[in-house]
Amino acid sequence: MSIRIIKENIYAVGVIDWDRRLFDELIPLPDGTTYNAYLIKGSDKVALLDTVDPPFGQELLENLQELKVDRIDYIISHHGEQDHSGAIPRLLAGYPMAKVVVNQKNKELLKNHLLVADGKFLVVADRETLSLGDKTLEFIFAPWVHWPETIFSYLKEDNILFTCDFLGSHLATSDLYAKEGPKVYAAAKRYYAEVMMPFRPLVTKHLEIVKQLNPGIVATSHGPIYDKPKYILEAYADWVGEAVGNKVVIPYVSMHGSTKVMVDYFVEKLMAQGVKVKPFNLTAMDLGDLAMELVDAATVVLGTPTVLAGPHPSAVYAAYLLNALRPKTKFVSLIGSFGWGGKTVEQIAGMLTALKVEILAPVMVKGLPKEEDFRRLDRLVDDILKKHQGVL
Ligand code: FEO
Repeated sequence: MSIRIIKENIYAVGVIDWDRRLFDELIPLPDGTTYNAYLIKGSDKVALLDTVDPPFGQELLENLQELKVDRIDYIISHHGEQDHSGAIPRLLAGYPMAKVVVNQKNKELLKNHLLVADGKFLVVADRETLSLGDKTLEFIFAPWVHWPETIFSYLKEDNILFTCDFLGSHLATSDLYAKEGPKVYAAAKRYYAEVMMPFRPLVTKHLEIVKQLNPGIVATSHGPIYDKPKYILEAYADWVGEAVGNKVVIPYVSMHGSTKVMVDYFVEKLMAQGVKVKPFNLTAMDLGDLAMELVDAATVVLGTPTVLAGPHPSAVYAAYLLNALRPKTKFVSLIGSFGWGGKTVEQIAGMLTALKVEILAPVMVKGLPKEEDFRRLDRLVDDILKKHQGVL
């Protein structure tokens, strides 16, 4: 039971998932998460904004019973992903008169993924309003933060913006409101990096819309909500802005130690030049940690041996993620060891088609690096320093 009052007749009724450790079978959740849902009691109508992940549907119903909610007129679905929409069928069973308020795109998603019947929907347009009597919701379409159907709701009279995933964080906490500090900042940055960074131009656009609305509260669908939205809006402005840091991220894997010798030497030389360096051993990597470091890294250098004539599968995974997450990274290179040849450079380069990066001359070495190979690594360090001077 985790009901909290935000303002009179506005309640947080979602649930805290303290124990979840993986999202989408992909994203690590070191701090669990929350599925935030909100109940708004207007003078005429009652609206529930989003639901929760399906296993928590009963807990959401119990929260509503605790508030003695005997009628829901509208279930506003901001986003079709099931951590927010998945309990809609259960809610409709409990409150059969409710209409599911969606845009057309979300209607298609919910019909197909949750088998919600066609007659259950109320389809709204961008900037359309819905009166609850003394309270009014305005729907603002926000495509691609992070699915095409995503919308925000703006509760006009109370100046609260419900942004669903946008500006959220996977952080299980008993705090309703975000307490500014490293924990909240890191969780929000991790979430941005994993979920929102691939859509950076759209994030920038929607950030502007939020700023113009100037809400007093930003109520997200994950993590603590913001009663001082300036904090998260400024953090986002920094993350999506064009500026990169004097930083090299080095995701690497080494089978027999030769690539590791190169990585260690390379890290030391970059550090000696005052460059911030973050190596990631890909055999024990937290995807979220890597994503966070990519947010503002000027350069990524992938370290991989050649195996079966191509890059190590762990390096392929890292390259795939790099390409999918689309950070604002400006330069990419590759270092590593091979036994007798292969197409490692070509295969990795061919995977980075979504990035607008300059590829710096890779350093691929036969066996253990020798004197001339260390000089090649020195030249790559010099190259990176020059390139950074041009963009910092
Ligand atoms: Fe929290 Fe995109 O779902």
